[in-house]
Amino acid sequence: MRGTLHAPPGPKGHLLGGNVREYARDPLGFLSRCVREYGDVVELRFMGQTIYLLSDPGLIEYILVENNRNFTKTRILKRNRRLLGEGLLTSEGEFWRRQRRLAQPAFHRKRVAAYGEVMAAFAERSLEAWRDGQTIDVHEEMMHLTLEIVAKCLFDADVGARATDVARAMKVALEDFSSQRRLIRIPKSIPTPHNIRFEMAARRLDEVVGTIIENRRKSEEDWGDLLSMLMLAEDESGERMTDKQLRDEVMTLFLAGHETTANALSWTFWLLSLNPQVEHELAEELARVLGGRPPTISDLPDLPYAERIVKESMRLYPPAWVVGREATAECEVGGYQMAAGTTALMSQWVMHRDPRYHEDPQRFDPDRWITGYEEVLPRFAYFPFGGGPRQCIGASFAMTEARLILATVAQRFEMELAPGQRVEPYPSITLRPKKGIRMTLVERSH
Ligand code: HEM
Repeated sequence: MRGTLHAPPGPKGHLLGGNVREYARDPLGFLSRCVREYGDVVELRFMGQTIYLLSDPGLIEYILVENNRNFTKTRILKRNRRLLGEGLLTSEGEFWRRQRRLAQPAFHRKRVAAYGEVMAAFAERSLEAWRDGQTIDVHEEMMHLTLEIVAKCLFDADVGARATDVARAMKVALEDFSSQRRLIRIPKSIPTPHNIRFEMAARRLDEVVGTIIENRRKSEEDWGDLLSMLMLAEDESGERMTDKQLRDEVMTLFLAGHETTANALSWTFWLLSLNPQVEHELAEELARVLGGRPPTISDLPDLPYAERIVKESMRLYPPAWVVGREATAECEVGGYQMAAGTTALMSQWVMHRDPRYHEDPQRFDPDRWITGYEEVLPRFAYFPFGGGPRQCIGASFAMTEARLILATVAQRFEMELAPGQRVEPYPSITLRPKKGIRMTLVERSH
């Protein structure tokens, strides 16, 4: 290493735990303040672990794309093996590459277009129970809907009856993840009430995923969906995936494939309720293009405003609000030396609200996404789906689903925030509304 490299600046922190206490209290606010006060490379310490918070698009590109081979996923993510195991989100190296190649065809544009029918039909169906004047928790509704969609599209499974169970288990699992920011972490093997609750939630999820796999095992047929692809794939020596590998992949896709999109939609409906002018313009676009009929995938190119709304909502409330990587060997980042074992944190929340890249960043303004905006934006000033080889495999699945659901719902109903609501983001692995979002439905008259 060259001799000019100093440690990056950063907040002092406490002797015990470093900066973890301030971070745990308010992760979004803390990271945003760090960037404002210390710049694009900030050194933090979380319980003896050195963290570099990187907030320059070029440096993020360097970690996620150019030098990605020098980085793995973080320890904190891997500590959550109980749920995700060695699935696509957490696995590494050759094993990850093989699994990604195997799953990729299920996310091909043509396949996603075929899923569009399921997405729109399920969205229509969930509206059947909605009534004018009724108050719903839009987050709960969206969790239910996106869960059913991912299970149907990828595994041809009906999980409607288990959706409430899964949502409850997800909440416990995500709270467990954020609780690991505490100064004292209790090992999972000690039966505290918290650990027992977590283990029970994990078992409920195991059961749901186990049933999907078992039901399929009963037939040796190729159903032509992702589950069959995973089950029937053989490696060079003719071996199929073990039950454990299969369970890990299905669980990962099941979890990663619904909660994020549900969050994106929940934030979108909330933002629309706060911005009547945008809401009005969307309703106009939907009436003009669809005229009351359900949307299909071929309508999407004619609904550019709906797309801008989803993009802008994910700018302000990115469902994946931070990604992390750990250096396997020493390297240089932004003029600083990064030792092996150092974690790089890159936050969508921070980047998407940086005034250097997004003018008037706090304003919800879908029109900023007019043609040309993205072309001049540095690649990693907006990265809701990450980037590089570990970029979200479900990005086009999610964008298709979000637009179809938004179009279906917004064509029929306007939503008003129920009185007395305080909507707050809860940053766990994902960014979800802390206590849901209660909205009153107003049916549109055509
Ligand atoms: C709005 C919705 C979504 C958002 C914002 C989102 C975001 C992300 C991000 C940022 C990553 C990269 C994480 C990292 O670099 O550490 C990721 C990875 C992943 N996502 Fe998504 N995602 C969404 C929807 C989906 C859907 C619908 C699926 C599947 C049906 C999915 C499956 C996955 C998987 C399997 C990975 C790991 C890919 C790999 O490492 O090879 N996601 N997602």
